[in-house]
Amino acid sequence: MKNKKLLYAASLACMLLMACSGKPVVESERNLKNVLGNHFLVGVAINHLQLQGQDSAALDIVKTHFNSIVPENCMKCMIIHPEENVYDFELSDRFVAFGEENGMFVVGHCLIWHSQLASWFCTDENGADVSPEVLKQRMKDHITTIVKRYKGRVHGWDVVNEAILEDGSYRNSKFYQILGEEFVPLAFQYAYEADPEAELYYNDYNMHFEGKRRAVIKLVEDLKARGIRIDAVGMQGHVGMEYPQISDFEASIEAFSKLNVKVMITEFDMSALPMVRYSANVTDTVSFEQSMNPYPNELPSRELEAWNKRMMEFMNLFVKHSRHISRVTFWGVTDGDSWKNDFPMRGRTDYPLLFDRNYEPKQFVKELLGE
Ligand code: G3I
Repeated sequence: MKNKKLLYAASLACMLLMACSGKPVVESERNLKNVLGNHFLVGVAINHLQLQGQDSAALDIVKTHFNSIVPENCMKCMIIHPEENVYDFELSDRFVAFGEENGMFVVGHCLIWHSQLASWFCTDENGADVSPEVLKQRMKDHITTIVKRYKGRVHGWDVVNEAILEDGSYRNSKFYQILGEEFVPLAFQYAYEADPEAELYYNDYNMHFEGKRRAVIKLVEDLKARGIRIDAVGMQGHVGMEYPQISDFEASIEAFSKLNVKVMITEFDMSALPMVRYSANVTDTVSFEQSMNPYPNELPSRELEAWNKRMMEFMNLFVKHSRHISRVTFWGVTDGDSWKNDFPMRGRTDYPLLFDRNYEPKQFVKELLGE
């Protein structure tokens, strides 16, 4: 059975390799961005330590295997715009410069998000909600200042992140409470006015839920009906071994593909641990339970083999739909970088990314590269 599975994965890899390039991969091109380059951009999220030059091994992997980058945290509101008249561009400038130096497709993440929002953004000097007019102006100033700074240098923006819930209703964020659904088109319009050339994305997780799928379809159709630019739907892709069903994920890819926008897999990672809850909303945490941290030292070979196989199944899905999928981005370089080590509970050890804690490629990567 084991050999049959490996044969399955190897044959899939060969199909990928030949499908991508039509010829065997030469050593100098034995990297992800070349093997998959005929299908889509291959991206990765870069963290603070890497931007501060404290993880050169990870940056070597980024330069070798990836042709697109996104900042894991440095462009989030509470970091880049900590006070109303204070911006901190130190890390975001380094991020954009790294992308330019290495010829990357640079993605900005994220302009409007309910989480990691600076505490001043939606409140007045008395701590009450600001008026709709004040919030519109603050959104416009925030988006215009950041997008204009990187005009022509950041190629695409996660304009609005995670505005819709799994049942299709709007998240009851401060943006929604004060402006209603209108905060979404306003954000996209402000971003377009700041850089008319940049691609603009709506980004969310759990996009395989039918309710969310329907609501995102409506969001895109409404923007288009109003002549407001939107270029892609970002499916974050924080998945696990038991969820989602690949068929449900595929149903959303197919539904979004019919909207005349690109589909992007924007934050892909696959937890190797038992599912705790459906959510990438970082406030959903549960107390640490040893039983939920079953592999603190290493992932057993059986689980690792299952992880590699399911990763190949998702990659096969992305290649199948690569006419509509323009980018697949992984949410971190090595397992040690992953937010999943502390979510939904702090202190657990997960194995969700392409490279292990020794910066070595997983079997999934080796099979893709025909090794
Ligand atoms: O940098 C500070 C550090 O100085 C401080 O000592 C430490 C104390 O806990 O916190 C550090 O900041 C943390 C930051 O990551 C940088 O490591 C924040 O607490 C922590 O909340 C933050 O988590 C990030 C999370 O978004 C919230 O912004 C994760 O790294 C990041 O992977 C995650 O990414 C999100 C996407 O942006 C949107 N989609 C879901 C995805 C997963 O939640």
